[in-house]
Amino acid sequence: MKPILVINFKTYKNTIGEKGVKLARICEEVAKKTNSKIIVTVQEVEIRNISSNVNIPVYSEHIDATRFGAYTGHNLPEALKQNGAAGTLINHSEDRSKLKHIKQALDRAKQVGLKTIACAPSPKIASKIAKFKPVYIAIEPPELIGGEKSVSSAKPKIITKTIKKVNQVNPVPVLCGAGVKNKKDVAKSIELGAAGVLVASHVVKAKDPEKVLRNLVKGFKNGS
Ligand code: G3P
Repeated sequence: MKPILVINFKTYKNTIGEKGVKLARICEEVAKKTNSKIIVTVQEVEIRNISSNVNIPVYSEHIDATRFGAYTGHNLPEALKQNGAAGTLINHSEDRSKLKHIKQALDRAKQVGLKTIACAPSPKIASKIAKFKPVYIAIEPPELIGGEKSVSSAKPKIITKTIKKVNQVNPVPVLCGAGVKNKKDVAKSIELGAAGVLVASHVVKAKDPEKVLRNLVKGFKNGS
């Protein structure tokens, strides 16, 4: 299976409107030119704007396990899908949910045909989420998010432990994220058994995101 690079736009300034499209187009361009799989996760309100302008998978950063009806203010899975979402992120550390709600959200996403990346802050939570069979589980130690030290160099064991614990429950591929900034961090993640990485700040806030992206995807080829 091809490793994936997930660029999480979060709510950074240059991720909405025309700037958001521009950044997503850079991701698309790098994916095409390097034959890599890049996914972008964007705010729900940007799903249509961004997905209608690029040809790479666009995921929402959140979903609600809501249904058609009287549920004001929720993000209906059907609406995300109809507006161009290919999948959704669930339970990011900046947007935590209770286990019960994670299961409900995963079930609803599956019902409408959205792919899922369920995040976990620890191997223990990851193994609990594995029972619900998301498409991917992403381990992200909260204390390293947005920082300079990558999960693969600062906490390599959390990746291997998560993979082991998840596989004891269900064979869900495990991604990792937090502090990832270059090809070495990516290569190390893959070497440890990750099926891909999530990156936010070092791409989204970069002066030259294309350069950073090109460097990151080199990590899929052992950093060469
Ligand atoms: O979802 C990815 C994210 O939380 C990692 O953030 O800024 O450490 O790359 P960052």
